[in-house]
This record gives sequence, C-alpha cells and structure tokens, in this order.
Amino acid sequence: MGKIKKADALALVLLFIVVGISHAGGIAIYWGQNGKEGTLSEACGTGRYTHVNIAFLNKFGNGQTPEMNLAGHCNPATNSCTKFSAEIKDCQSKGIKVLLSIGGGIGSYSLASVEDARNVSTFLWNTFLGGKSTSRPLGDAVLDGIDFDIEQGSTQNYDHLARFLKAYSNVGKRVYLAAAPQCPIPDRFLATALDTGLFDFVWVQFYNNPPCHYANGNITNLVNSWNRWTSTVPAGKIFLGLPAAPAAAGSGFVPADVVTSQILPVIKQSPKYGGVMLWSRFFDVQNGYSTSIIGSV
Ligand SMILES: *[C@@H]1O[C@H](CO)[C@@H](O)[C@H](O)[C@H]1NC(C)=O
Ligand SMILES: *[C@@H]1O[C@H](CO)[C@@H](O)[C@H](O)[C@H]1NC(C)=O
Repeated sequence: MGKIKKADALALVLLFIVVGISHAGGIAIYWGQNGKEGTLSEACGTGRYTHVNIAFLNKFGNGQTPEMNLAGHCNPATNSCTKFSAEIKDCQSKGIKVLLSIGGGIGSYSLASVEDARNVSTFLWNTFLGGKSTSRPLGDAVLDGIDFDIEQGSTQNYDHLARFLKAYSNVGKRVYLAAAPQCPIPDRFLATALDTGLFDFVWVQFYNNPPCHYANGNITNLVNSWNRWTSTVPAGKIFLGLPAAPAAAGSGFVPADVVTSQILPVIKQSPKYGGVMLWSRFFDVQNGYSTSIIGSV
C-alpha cells in the first residue's frame, strides 16, 4: 500500500511537470475585410476567439486624412460603421480583446516624422480609444488597443508611434499593442518598433515566407523560426500566425492535424506562447479551422 501511494505521488508530480511546461493559449482572428464573414457579434459568439483585430485603418500619416476600410460590412464615410459599437462592447463583455488593426496589404500609409507619429497617436486615441472626437467611425466603444500590420510604405517612426500610444495607458485603461510581422527576422517594417519591448501580443505571419513557413510536410523551418522569435524578440506573448484556409494565403497553409499533433505540442513549451492567430474570419467560417484546432490551442 505504501508503495502504491509513493507511485501515485510520483505520477502526480510528473503530471504537474508536464502541465507546467505546456501553456494554454487563445485564438486571435482578423475581422473586417470580407462582408460575407458575418458580424462581429457572431464571431465573438462562437466562443472560439480571445482577440479580434478589426481590419483595417489603411490610410494614415504623412498629413493624410485617415481612412478606415471594412469592405462590405459598412461605409465609414457615411457613418454606417457605428452600428458595430454595441457589438464591440458585446465582445468585450465576453472577455474578448478588440483591437484596431492599422496598415494591411492595400492602402496608403507611412509616418513622415516623430511629429507625424505623435499626430497619428493622438488621432487613434481620440477616434478609437479612450479620447473624445466628434467623428468616431466605430462609435463610443473604447477599443482595447492597436495592432500594427505594417507591410508597405516607409519603415520609419513606428517605434515612436508605439511609445506615444503606450503612454496613453497612464491616462485611461490599458492600451494593448499588437503587431503582425512577417516571420523572417528582423521584420523590415516592424523590427524597430518591436525592439521597444512595448508589444503585448505579436502574431507572427508564418506564411507567404518559404524560409520560415511549413511546406510539404516539413515543420523544421517554421519551428526554428518560432524558436528565434521566442528567444530573441522582446514581446509579451507570441502567437503562431496561420492562414485559416489554403486560399487565405499565397503559400504556407498548414493542415489542422499537423498543427495539433506536431507543431503546437512543441511551441507550447515556450513561456512566450500566446496561442494562434488566424487570417481571417472569412476563411475560418469557410474552412472550420479554429474548430479543428481549438482543443489543442
Ligand atoms: C500635427 O497636427 C497639428 C495640429 O493638428 C498640425 O498643425 C501639424 O501640421 C501636424 N503635423 C504633421 C506632421 O502632420
Ligand atoms: C526539412 O527541412 C529542413 C530545413 O530545410 C531540412 O534540413 C530537412 O532535411 C527537411 N526534412 C525532410 C524530412 O525533408
């Protein structure tokens, strides 16, 4: 009897060790670039997402009047996107963080100077965060933060934008900062900003980048890249960014069973592991990807 108890105790200790090195994560999703992906409330109502990035504010900086683009969902110019204010609050009431994503693949944006970065930060604070403006395209809902998806234009001054935005955390509720760099290190547009160490969530795009994405059954490049991100880039949590369907990216789609059986068990050992990011809600609805992987995230 004494022997069995000892064995039980040992098994329990081993179990704690195994649980201790595997970290639970969440799923971040991009919403906003396809009118056929359903509403924000529907996305949040699935219970599968912990973070929603509203995409995109795709025109800003260099003295331009900023513009948001939410595809077929609504038209910011006629103020029809304010209907999402209640949905944002609904998502937040479920504990989901809702961020505005700035940048994207199509648009016109850059930060011409430190002063320009300061102006854009003031605009973002007043228009989408805790500040006040007569023109708030998403209504009076106060978003949880700003996601940097910078893929074109100048590489300059995003570190300043990050500092100015983070400083608003001292004014009102915490402003979360997120970024969606490409997997090669250093990221051309975001490396300097990431070096500030101010980013809470970094969802790395492990796709469209053969040197660091999955291909032909081989996870080596992706896992090696993940290890470089988690060991060299200062960030709160790092997420595995993936296409939610083959059509969601040019290359780098990873079948769900490969993610759950081969990749997640390895990358979850990092204390920096935050979960999985998916592009996008539209493709996730089509493909059921988050449903397939959520049990292992
Ligand atoms: C910043 O904003 C101020 C006040 O609106 C304006 O006078 C100035 O020209 C702006 N600077 C830049 C670089 O856009
Ligand atoms: C997987 O990719 C790595 C890196 O390119 C390579 O060294 C390795 O041989 C590949 N493994 C297989 C089984 O093809």
